[in-house]
Amino acid sequence: MAKFLVQKSAPLRGEVKISGSKNAVLPIMAAALLTEEKCEIKDVPALRDVEVMCKLLESLGASVEMDLAHNCVQIEAAGEISWEAPFDLVKMMRASILVLGALLIRTGRAIIHLPGGCAIGKRPVELHLKGLRAMGVEIDEAQLNRGIVDAKVEKLSGSTIYLDFPSVGATEVIVMAATLADGVTILENAAQEPEIVDLANVLNKMGARIKGAGTDTIKIEGVESLKGVSHHVIPDRIEAGTFMVGAVMTGGNVLIKNIVADHLKAVIAKLRECGAEIQMTDEGLVVRGDRRPINSTDIKTLPYPGFPTDMQSPFMALLTVAKGPSVVIETVFENRFMHVGEFNRMGANIKTNGNCAIIPGDKTLQGAQVVATDLRAGAAVVLTGLVADGTTEVSQIYHVDRGYENFVEKLRSLGANIMRVEE
Ligand code: EPZ
Repeated sequence: MAKFLVQKSAPLRGEVKISGSKNAVLPIMAAALLTEEKCEIKDVPALRDVEVMCKLLESLGASVEMDLAHNCVQIEAAGEISWEAPFDLVKMMRASILVLGALLIRTGRAIIHLPGGCAIGKRPVELHLKGLRAMGVEIDEAQLNRGIVDAKVEKLSGSTIYLDFPSVGATEVIVMAATLADGVTILENAAQEPEIVDLANVLNKMGARIKGAGTDTIKIEGVESLKGVSHHVIPDRIEAGTFMVGAVMTGGNVLIKNIVADHLKAVIAKLRECGAEIQMTDEGLVVRGDRRPINSTDIKTLPYPGFPTDMQSPFMALLTVAKGPSVVIETVFENRFMHVGEFNRMGANIKTNGNCAIIPGDKTLQGAQVVATDLRAGAAVVLTGLVADGTTEVSQIYHVDRGYENFVEKLRSLGANIMRVEE
């Protein structure tokens, strides 16, 4: 298994270009199933999850040309489409559920074996199914009790649906299903993430009639058919946030290119509270931690536009070395403190109680053997490795490869002492 070896590094300096968003490109690739015409997606990040989604779409009968060296994927779902997602692919990526709405539209059927829970939570899909049932979809309850979504429908019809929680995945699945349903669908308490807006923009370019994406109420007027599309994926705001935190906690000065600062208001505000200097320029976002001591602050994760849960562990890395104590409250996932044990192996001395973590700060961390417990936590322990004395050995880095394109190369270009070793 591959590992990262990370040594204490000089402050990060230089510039880094952010890749396309993993969490935008995955639903957009699923949306290609909604048309028989060719869809060309650009600025696609070369990630394991993208490769798995390509394999999944191929296994369903789409033709997929993956040119990740040029960050481009072409998908053409013409002709017969299978309705069963192979479990060996679904278990590699829970985002496979994103094809559910499109499969029902194309074939009137969908069979998707649900992966179990993961490190950060049980990841249920009852809200996805609540929306689809409201649109006339029948879900086999016996199969569901065995962890299999076995759904069928003659014709989807528009409906008014309230999401008990603004679930990103449920919003994306329901919006995709509603684009070609009969009549109008109103989705209330919808997720407002930028990735939802990017998906809606793609669908509208394909001929859908979606209004309100990015707000808590989305209106979708069903149309007869959708056409092919060419689209550039938005930058990955979580990758950007990760490098911003790295720049600040190492006392560096980094230019972040290909970034939509508007998608990072909460992270920018919190970094400024810690004493960072952040300035938007024509070339990108300049992030400096070299001007003032880095103070502590408190974080509470919330659905967008609140502080993003995916930035919780990278930001906690900074708080372990900030001046003074901090409190982090995780409200989105029920078990997203697995990285705390890894930070404590490095001397962070963090205490947790339920969804609340107390970080004392003011620590000089020691390098240690640590584990990437999810893809964001893997990036977070690399960040603490950059400021810890000695060597930090990070294992289970396949998690990181799922969400960060060329992570080692980008960090090394900023002066980080990190290398990937194959065991
Ligand atoms: C998306 O996951 C992202 N993944 C996650 O990013 C991200 O953390 C999450 O949204 C929240 O922003 C992709 O976009 C591929 P949710 P998703 O449905 O759609 C509960 C990363 O690191 N919930 O908004 O699965 C659920 O249990 C990944 O890139 C229900 O209770 O997230 C969780 O506690 C990690 N019932 C909360 O909502 C449901 O039916 C958020 O889940 C659905 C969700």
